[in-house]
Amino acid sequence: MTAATRYNSGAIAFHWIIAALIVLNFIAVWVAEDMPKEDASQLMGIHKAVGISILVLTVLRILWRLTHRPPPFPENMKAWEVALARVVHSLFYFLMVAIPFTGWSMVSAYSGKPVSFFGLFDVPALPYRVNEASGEILHEVHETFGAIMLVLLALHVAGALKHHFVDRHGGLARMIPALRRD
Ligand code: HEM
Ligand code: HEM
Repeated sequence: MTAATRYNSGAIAFHWIIAALIVLNFIAVWVAEDMPKEDASQLMGIHKAVGISILVLTVLRILWRLTHRPPPFPENMKAWEVALARVVHSLFYFLMVAIPFTGWSMVSAYSGKPVSFFGLFDVPALPYRVNEASGEILHEVHETFGAIMLVLLALHVAGALKHHFVDRHGGLARMIPALRRD
């Protein structure tokens, strides 16, 4: 596997750091559900700060992606597989911006309060009129987008494993160069 058949180091770093933070954010929500109110609100504070970090890193990642060409898809991938991968990747980029943005918007609409970034500084609230009903709609959108992301993640991981272990044309090694077989 040569440099041309794998993602560059910047793309790989962005992919895995952001993927890990997203997984952490889902785990935080699931764990917070069973916690006493005060602990849950502290954990959700971390969820919000991690979410803002994902938003910033995704904007940087998109700029990186626009200025660095990704490797071409393997030639023996079928046309429908390439099309599906493109759709899933595009939806991921949309959701990696839209999920944290709706979270931030939800908090701004519910309370008008800033989001503490790990106690280091405050991220100002977005300039919405404080309004419970808008907060609820944004909450619904945040939740629905989160559910869509989980479905896409299952599809994405299944695709990556299929291309690696069944089709044997690189697959995972495009994002984990240590797995290359040359
Ligand atoms: C990629 C980043 C994020 C992911 C994957 C994510 C995902 C989720 C999910 C799945 C839920 C549970 C929805 C529900 O059933 O109620 C949730 C709840 C929540 N999220 Fe996020 N979120 C992210 C970023 C953010 C950000 C940036 C903020 C705010 C700055 C935020 C604020 C909240 C709040 C306040 C709730 C709890 C709502 C409630 O039940 O009261 N999230 N998030
Ligand atoms: C929430 C977590 C994840 C997100 C949001 C995500 C998102 C993405 C995106 C957007 C791309 C396309 C990169 C580009 O062309 O710009 C990509 C590629 C890739 N991802 Fe993920 N990913 C996640 C988790 C994973 C996991 C857990 C695996 C391992 C099984 C994985 C394996 C791969 C591989 C192998 C590629 C390269 C695909 C190709 O052959 O072109 N990803 N991912």
